[in-house]
Amino acid sequence: MMLPTESDQRRFADLLQRRAGLSLPVASLPLAGARLTPRLDRLGLDSFAAYLALLEEGDELPMALDLLTTQEACFFREPEQFELLESELSRQRPVRLRLWSAGAGTGDDAYSLAMLLGDLQRAGRLGADWSVLGTDISEPRLQAAKAALYAQARLRLVSAQRRQRYCLGGEGAAGLVQMQAGLRERVRFERLDLRQALPAGEPFDVILLRHLLVYFDAATRRAIVARVLARLRPGGLFAVGAAEARLFDPDGLEPLMPGLFRKGRQQPARRSASAALVAPMPR
Ligand SMILES: C[S@@+](CC[C@H](N)C(=O)[O-])C[C@H]1O[C@@H](n2cnc3c(N)ncnc32)[C@H](O)[C@@H]1O
Repeated sequence: MMLPTESDQRRFADLLQRRAGLSLPVASLPLAGARLTPRLDRLGLDSFAAYLALLEEGDELPMALDLLTTQEACFFREPEQFELLESELSRQRPVRLRLWSAGAGTGDDAYSLAMLLGDLQRAGRLGADWSVLGTDISEPRLQAAKAALYAQARLRLVSAQRRQRYCLGGEGAAGLVQMQAGLRERVRFERLDLRQALPAGEPFDVILLRHLLVYFDAATRRAIVARVLARLRPGGLFAVGAAEARLFDPDGLEPLMPGLFRKGRQQPARRSASAALVAPMPR
């Protein structure tokens, strides 16, 4: 196995910063290098320097980001946030809801939301007009999200009733679980780079931007949060990972619990021209 030298690691950190706005802690660089070595083997590269050249010149960057930001994703991760979301929405009894999972990865959050909304609708606390949009920069992740096939361990926090209602398969320890067609119809996935100006469109009622900010430097985080919040309606709910709340200025947001906020009715002044909106967002 080829491990990157210290000089490779420094060049790699610099490249990630310049090309992706990612800021990996120095201490995590050896681990990041180790995560990429199977990819080097697959590409038949015999040095990390050759991989760095590929990252500079070619289309390899999204794949590297994909490998680096892989986390132990699971449905209903940080379940307290979903519980509070459920009780907030249940109390509001909305007729119609539009939700967005930004940086959706393989879709765990998006389908968790859909299960939660499906249950609210069954309980008569939400009308039939609801949908979830999942967006991500990574094509492989979007393909996985659309396929909606998961190892059982990913559903460890999903109740037996919900599994029965919304999932197929999963027999035997190794069996994969698939989301049922009725649930999949409610969730759409699109490619979207949150570092770019976002398409304009109807505001969302709830936005999840979880376990993503941690990878970016402060300026990129600020720009992403401003852009995403511009797409949330006043009074709408906004979630980041509980540990990510300290990574941005929650100006104009009312904290409900760690990582979960309500957007104020009064909009704070926009800080960055890069938060501009330009084209219709797919619904
Ligand atoms: C650790 S995953 C989090 C997935 C999901 N939100 C969750 O909490 O399980 C981070 C995701 O952010 C995506 N990502 C990284 N940079 C991005 C960008 N500039 N725009 C959109 N998505 C991005 C990655 O592809 C990855 O799927």
